[in-house]
Amino acid sequence: MKRVLLVIGGGIAAYKCLDLIRRLQERRIAVRCVMTGAAQAFITPLAVGAISNERVATDLFDLEGEREIGHIRMARETDLIVVAPATADLLARMAHGHADDLATAVLLATRVPVLVAPAMNPAMWDHPATRRNVARLEADGIAFIGPNAGEMAEKGEAGVGRMAEVSELVARIENLLTPGAGGKGEIGFLSISAAKGARPLLAGRHVLVTSGPTHEPIDPVRYIANRSSGKQGHAIAAAAHRLGARVTLISGPVQIPVPEGVEVRHVETASEMLDAVEAALPADIAVLAAAVADWRAAEPQRGKIKKRPDAPPPALALAENPDILATIAKPGPQRPPLVIGFAAETQDVIGSAKAKRTAKAADWIVANDVSEARHVFGAERNTVHLLTADNVESWPELSKAEIAEALLRRAAQHLAARRETA
Ligand code: CTP
Repeated sequence: MKRVLLVIGGGIAAYKCLDLIRRLQERRIAVRCVMTGAAQAFITPLAVGAISNERVATDLFDLEGEREIGHIRMARETDLIVVAPATADLLARMAHGHADDLATAVLLATRVPVLVAPAMNPAMWDHPATRRNVARLEADGIAFIGPNAGEMAEKGEAGVGRMAEVSELVARIENLLTPGAGGKGEIGFLSISAAKGARPLLAGRHVLVTSGPTHEPIDPVRYIANRSSGKQGHAIAAAAHRLGARVTLISGPVQIPVPEGVEVRHVETASEMLDAVEAALPADIAVLAAAVADWRAAEPQRGKIKKRPDAPPPALALAENPDILATIAKPGPQRPPLVIGFAAETQDVIGSAKAKRTAKAADWIVANDVSEARHVFGAERNTVHLLTADNVESWPELSKAEIAEALLRRAAQHLAARRETA
């Protein structure tokens, strides 16, 4: 049996929770409830307890309650936390990590996915403070449903602010509790559709992405290449567009379509790629996912090199290509505030990627193991590590689209935090 912890906030829509509890129980989902102080002004713990068949928790400092099940256990011994209705004040306190009552303490202590159903007056929902709080919570991986447009409790007022309907909530909760349906445990990493009316996380940002291999000509018919499919870089461009950014994709020769809504420049060689990258600056985020050839033919021939039966095979002299990542990560006025590189390694993945991050002056490196056994090239899924200046995070196996989305959400969060401390 799946378990939901329902945190009931203080809004007129709290009465809908009584119906929500029933509908979830009908679907064999156990519901335990926490009520904020304000929620108790709208419905009583007695009513909620009677319907849920469980003692309702209301107080962080309730000795008996803490003995029965402490707030930490309550936060963890559930499959999903649903906050409904989430008031502007509750969202603000969640966004700032408050923990001064049972509801916020549970929300701060939890490691399970959280779904929030906001409900408030449209002016409060539209206020820049609420916009900021919602964006912050989204970047933290919190999922939102609603609010919907419609009539408000206040007579004569209408707009976006009504809590999502119980049927919508039930459908979403069932979906989140179903593994593989965008559900359980994945929320921290994945896109859950943005709250209606919320400003997209990367709105107003320019994201520059390189993708695919480069082809370095030897003569008009032959070239040096590598196995990159471009899937990861293109997924990053697509995710950046979905999150509201203006996207420039600099793509080497690939067999996959250009993602919708993305401006693309097609290039062949590393030096063309570098020129295109420099021409596309300035950017807020640069994600250099291309597998750039390290070397090119030192003297590409204009005519096709002929095979001569009486002569040994021709020697191929190589010259080093420019390092695009190292070039644009160099300090300077055009340096994007966040430069992210990739590291494809076969040995000592994290150690080598750390060294690469420092050597190339990248802010972050996404490291992956490309040893043959792992079949990364052309595959749909991958297991990566995100290396930042002071941290190494090992992510679970995800699809390339999921990695793209998670990476860009992290990037958006990073830029928002930078702006705040600037
Ligand atoms: N990169 C680049 N320009 C190059 C080579 C690499 O911009 N000429 C970028 C890639 O896009 C990637 C990162 O640098 O973001 C790491 O590339 P990788 O091929 O793993 O590392 P190399 O620098 O080539 O080192 P090595 O092959 O020795 O591991």
